[in-house]
Amino acid sequence: MSADSLGGSPENEDIVSLPEIKNGRVLVTGASGYIGGRLVPELLTRGYRVRAMVRGDSPEYQARWPLAEIAVADALDNRNEALERSLKDVDTAFYLLHSLFLGPKDFEAADIKAAANFRKAAQKQNVRRIIYLGGLGDIQSSLSTHLKSRMEVAEELKRGRVPVTILRAGIIIGSGSASYEIIQHLVRRLKVILMPSWAKNRCQPIAIRDVIKYLVGALEVSQTTGRNFDIGGPDILTYEAMLRILSQTLQKKRFFVHLPFLSIRVFAYLASLLTPVPAPITQCLMESLKNEVVCQENRIKEYVPFEPLPYKEAIVRALSREEQDKVHTRWSDAYPPAHELALKLHELKPGPGYSTRYSLQTGKSAASLFRSLCNIGGKEGWFENNWLWRMRGMIDRILGGVGTSRGRRSYGALMINDVIDFWRIEDLRSDQRLLLRAEMKLPGKAWLEFNIEEADASRKLSLVAYYDADGFWGKVYWYACLPFHYFIFKELLIAIEKRS
Ligand SMILES: NC(=O)c1ccc[n+]([C@@H]2O[C@H](COP(=O)([O-])OP(=O)(O)OC[C@H]3O[C@@H](n4cnc5c(N)ncnc54)[C@H](OP(=O)(O)O)[C@@H]3O)[C@@H](O)[C@H]2O)c1
Repeated sequence: MSADSLGGSPENEDIVSLPEIKNGRVLVTGASGYIGGRLVPELLTRGYRVRAMVRGDSPEYQARWPLAEIAVADALDNRNEALERSLKDVDTAFYLLHSLFLGPKDFEAADIKAAANFRKAAQKQNVRRIIYLGGLGDIQSSLSTHLKSRMEVAEELKRGRVPVTILRAGIIIGSGSASYEIIQHLVRRLKVILMPSWAKNRCQPIAIRDVIKYLVGALEVSQTTGRNFDIGGPDILTYEAMLRILSQTLQKKRFFVHLPFLSIRVFAYLASLLTPVPAPITQCLMESLKNEVVCQENRIKEYVPFEPLPYKEAIVRALSREEQDKVHTRWSDAYPPAHELALKLHELKPGPGYSTRYSLQTGKSAASLFRSLCNIGGKEGWFENNWLWRMRGMIDRILGGVGTSRGRRSYGALMINDVIDFWRIEDLRSDQRLLLRAEMKLPGKAWLEFNIEEADASRKLSLVAYYDADGFWGKVYWYACLPFHYFIFKELLIAIEKRS
């Protein structure tokens, strides 16, 4: 079976337990997320009947995992019907939902509600087991909202009759993981790294491949049913040591300056400006740095025995994945829900109130134009007037949006749902169309559509910017941007054509 038909090559060839295929169907919730997106191909490789649960209905998922069933459900939907359908005839359900994108104020209530709805639906459908991946933390200490919420979700799931296996992990190191991207960007971009007092707190990082091994192990070793386990790598390190080891590995000489009074909030905000990870996520994750996240016990080793990767090796693996451009999943794959639940361009009735169109004729082939078009964003930038795009990205970051530094998952083939800076791909038809939906902070909704059409013996390359304004300020925004459109869009088209 090819890696492509499984939705990416599996991480592990050396899982010690054996597949328990006879047990029946496995549901992976949060399949569009960082962990879920890596678990699905791993389970498919091991021969399981996998149902992947996603929130946004998109043909991309079936194309990504042709051997999996796709179920669409929102765990926050009070009617619970779609959730119950997703859980029908399921033996074991992985619970990998998380609402960090909602930001520090809202994620806690949303996560509890989703867990309660899931528990009820799983019980009604007679699911045999639930496996949940939560967060480490000493329950005796005063935990951050994020870690406390991870524990509350575990308690909520356990309130039902379905036995729940709880795996608790700290920082996960892997290409595309939000925590890893934060530390990596800080080390790459700053010569002087400010070290607040909490940088002396300890954590026990674990490689993504080992997390997947433990999740699969929990499924395959029945003695783990209904029990709690802490999972971690072999190294217990301070946050400062993690940054120092990373700077040595990257061969970057960095100066660490101790600033005991620097608050986590300020640090998280600065980090959101310097790294691709937006403020709502950096704040939630960094608030947890005040806690020590170290395994309290190691009982998992009795049931799923293997040697987890040391921190340094996990970093080297993550770096080499990036260098080979093989990042299977990334934190940005999960949608900011406010945008996903918004309408798609074809669903907007009546259509968007404003649009502007630019086009050019060329003798170049559709394939080469499309290839050139698909290079936009990320490290390649926006070809012409890149500084204007970056400035808009910086303003977005300051306003707490995703900004342009979010970049791209990969510089290889694009997929529907991929992120390109502050856009997300809504539609993609090879050599014909690329439709991008805006995820930056805007007083309205915006799309950018590129089309390549045959025109006599030549090709017409066009760009349409659509905008649906929210009230008065939405209209002001459109008219304020209009004078810049010519320079930005027309010159972008010329640059795409030139590079093709
Ligand atoms: N990543 C880490 O470093 C890390 C570390 C320790 C523990 N964990 C734990 O691992 C679990 C998974 O984390 P992750 O990093 O994979 O999260 P993630 O990338 O943020 O993905 C979260 C997933 O939850 C889905 N989701 C959110 N709200 C939903 C709803 N109402 N209904 C249906 N789906 C919903 C998202 O779907 P959409 O795409 O539709 O938004 C997405 O697929 C979490 O419990 C987390 O605490 C992760």
